[in-house]
Amino acid sequence: MEKMWSGRFGQSASSLLDDFNASIMFDRRLYKEDIEGSMAHARMLQEQGILTEDECSAITTGLKQVLAEIENGTFEWRVADEDLHMAIEKRLTAIIGDVGGKLHTARSRNDQVAVDFRRYVIRKNIEIARLLKQLMEVIVDLASRHTETLIPGMTHLQHAQPINFAFHLLAYASMFERDIERFKESAKRNNISPLGCAALAGTPHNIDRHMTARALDFDGVSINCLDTVSDRDFALEILFNIATMMMHISRLSEELVLWSSYEFGFVELSDAYATGSSIMPQKKNPDVPELLRGKTGRVNGNLISLLTVMKGLPLAYNKDTQEDKEGVFDSVDTAEISLQILREALATMEVKAENMSRACNIGHLSATDLADYLVEQCHIPFRTAHFITGKAVARAEALGIDVSELRFEELHRIDERIDASVMPKLQLRSSMNARTSQGGTATVRTLEQLIYFENYLKELEL
Ligand code: ARG
Repeated sequence: MEKMWSGRFGQSASSLLDDFNASIMFDRRLYKEDIEGSMAHARMLQEQGILTEDECSAITTGLKQVLAEIENGTFEWRVADEDLHMAIEKRLTAIIGDVGGKLHTARSRNDQVAVDFRRYVIRKNIEIARLLKQLMEVIVDLASRHTETLIPGMTHLQHAQPINFAFHLLAYASMFERDIERFKESAKRNNISPLGCAALAGTPHNIDRHMTARALDFDGVSINCLDTVSDRDFALEILFNIATMMMHISRLSEELVLWSSYEFGFVELSDAYATGSSIMPQKKNPDVPELLRGKTGRVNGNLISLLTVMKGLPLAYNKDTQEDKEGVFDSVDTAEISLQILREALATMEVKAENMSRACNIGHLSATDLADYLVEQCHIPFRTAHFITGKAVARAEALGIDVSELRFEELHRIDERIDASVMPKLQLRSSMNARTSQGGTATVRTLEQLIYFENYLKELEL
């Protein structure tokens, strides 16, 4: 088959080359961006007197037909056509004749692919941010029902201090808010048009880059053509944004795996989002959070792949760059399905509040409160208070009870400066509610955080 670029070639391409060189089987995903870009380019060429009105309208009509053929499934995607840009131009020319060949005036596939891919990535930054918003809505709604539900706060996965479950969930709301902002900022920062950069150096034709930029909803045009045709920072950014978001999702997933175990028993995943074992009939496995955790591997890989592809490239376009797309498509697909399934799994999960608060009775969660009491009421230096509290913990351990269950007499015997006013402070709920510093877990503080996120979501425009 004749290649579009075959003019200087004496021999035709080997089919092995076709298979190796082609991107058509994956870049066809960009057909809409490509055709819209071509239509904007043709219109600009006409406005600038480079195409006649008839030529432009023939091209536009032809492109509309190509778009329809792609969407109704009759378009033939052939590996020998190499990439979607050439496949579309070839079909256009077959439909409207030689005038189709005028579309590529003042343009190269280098700026063409940069336009298509950039617009796809910008759109996906916003679509993923929208899915994140929906996930956050479920998290915030869940939190609104659990501002009083006690759960052991942990460090090193060891019981540390009592917190409420909403406070725990809102930590994830904070992460996802940062993620949304990162996607938004990337979409904004990268929204500049590469069209008109041509192969690398610009073009002698009298084009108007601002006109095509406006038509394609870009905020402006890029500064330096040599940079623009080889810049893939926008793709790296979405890969990083997704990798960071998936790392957050993976942390939450890890907690869901732990929480749904018999040992924790804090949540039960709905049957619709859990799976069974092929051999052990009693099993209900948390495959969804496990897979979410596992999928961070591929999105991290995609980021490292593209960083590696780009690192040694001389200016400007190099074919290596064609390796930018599959990893981005894979990360985007992974992000989209992950956000949807996590949202559903959280919305349908049962929270076992009694088990959460029962777990607070082990591990001496209010030990810090005893030390804080000694500092505040008895004016004992914190280090000494820490030591005295250690003795109280040891006494509770010896009695086989929690520090919050020690009788006043026991505490007084450990240090006679302790008086009865300590007793309510050791109760788990008052321990949680004592942490009233800004951003703390006390229910009053958690409610402020809840309102912050509710307002954030209400005002968020995407
Ligand atoms: N398929 C190519 C890519 O994805 C399009 C650009 C090709 N340009 C070129 N000069 N070979 O990067």
